[in-house]
Amino acid sequence: MNHFQYKGNELYAEEVAIREIVAKVGSPVYIYSQATLERHFRSFDEAFAAVPHTVCYSVKANSNLAVLKTFINLGGGVDIVSGGELFRALKAGVDPRKVVYSGVGKRDDEIEYALNSGILMFNVESEQELTRISEIASRLGKKAGIAIRVNPDVDPQTHPYITTGLKNAKFGITIDRAMAEYARAKTLPGIEVIGIDMHIGSQLTKVNPFVDSIEKLKVMIGTLRSQGIDLRYFDCGGGLGIQYNTEEPPLPADYGKEIVAATKDLGMHLVFEPGRNIVGNAGILVATCLYTKERDEKNFIMIDAGMNDLARPALYGSFHGVQPVVKDQDGMVVADIVGPICESGDFLVKDREVPMFKQGDQMAFMSAGAYGFAMSSSYNSRPRVAEVMVKGDRFEVIRERETVEDLIKGERLPSFL
Ligand code: LLP
Repeated sequence: MNHFQYKGNELYAEEVAIREIVAKVGSPVYIYSQATLERHFRSFDEAFAAVPHTVCYSVKANSNLAVLKTFINLGGGVDIVSGGELFRALKAGVDPRKVVYSGVGKRDDEIEYALNSGILMFNVESEQELTRISEIASRLGKKAGIAIRVNPDVDPQTHPYITTGLKNAKFGITIDRAMAEYARAKTLPGIEVIGIDMHIGSQLTKVNPFVDSIEKLKVMIGTLRSQGIDLRYFDCGGGLGIQYNTEEPPLPADYGKEIVAATKDLGMHLVFEPGRNIVGNAGILVATCLYTKERDEKNFIMIDAGMNDLARPALYGSFHGVQPVVKDQDGMVVADIVGPICESGDFLVKDREVPMFKQGDQMAFMSAGAYGFAMSSSYNSRPRVAEVMVKGDRFEVIRERETVEDLIKGERLPSFL
């Protein structure tokens, strides 16, 4: 359920007509519904009401400060993967004790920044990283809370680019090695072992792979306890999918029931790192038709947004529904909806029946709240678009449209030119 609905023939975000936002802010524009963000955070959080837990929103999915602040106000923490994400989350006011830090390539300066900020734990992804964290923490006279990110070798049955929990993926430490690393971690001066972590992939539409992975980690936890290594935090990662098209992912409540059942006898504090599930359907990208062209074999609808603004279709062949901002088209047409970028992969819709958009028509690409703006770039020297948040009958720009001056910010002509 989200708050992008038609009233008559006009698409609204909550109580605001999309047309009105575009008239003021311009096109293309990302628009987020605050009510949907809150609703999705709450329904995820409530799914675990029966057990101690922290929802650490995965910043990478949508890192706008206003989005982060929305979840922090509801008691959320964050999952970060860089010093930049930590900076954003702290700016938005996150409690550092609710920050978990994942990622296979943490730099020294990022580790130091996280230690000085007092984050809860590092999700360690390699043997060398564990050693490095201990060295840096010792130098600073601190102890780093750590969990080992275990790669459970379970197939999440999703797109290969977003599968992370199979042995051939770069993520985490395999079970055998992780057991040895826990023993070693206990002896390292800068380390306090506090948890165990997994994240097996994104856009999962079944609960089984999560539960299968949890079962594998439970066996590890049992053995570690018998060796005197007691873990307090069980980080189950993110990955719960959403409906883009015809998928039928489990509701957070159903996912919650099964996860709680699988973990309850452990008596651990659960941590979750959801991204897409919370923000995906809370955002849309609105664009405008520039031109259309008909060929015998194909119809093209050229718009003012491209793969630099929403990369998912070009990158993963992802489906995003497309809806007219005002429904006044004369029927449907099978077409590609393409951007202005000079690449054939620059499409947002491929060979699909869509409304017969004409010049000047505005359209909304649905489910664009996750990995939409966050993955956008200024490729082809296209300034990144504005972001807007709607609450009830109000809306505000939460990130200004970039200007051409922004494009060359920091560029210098060398003295030898
Ligand atoms: N935790 C870790 C360690 C992750 O790597 C990710 C996502 C998450 C949590 C959040 O996963 P989510 O709940 O959003 O599924 N750009 C791709 C998705 C990449 C996901 C990367 N990791 C896309 O547009 O589909």
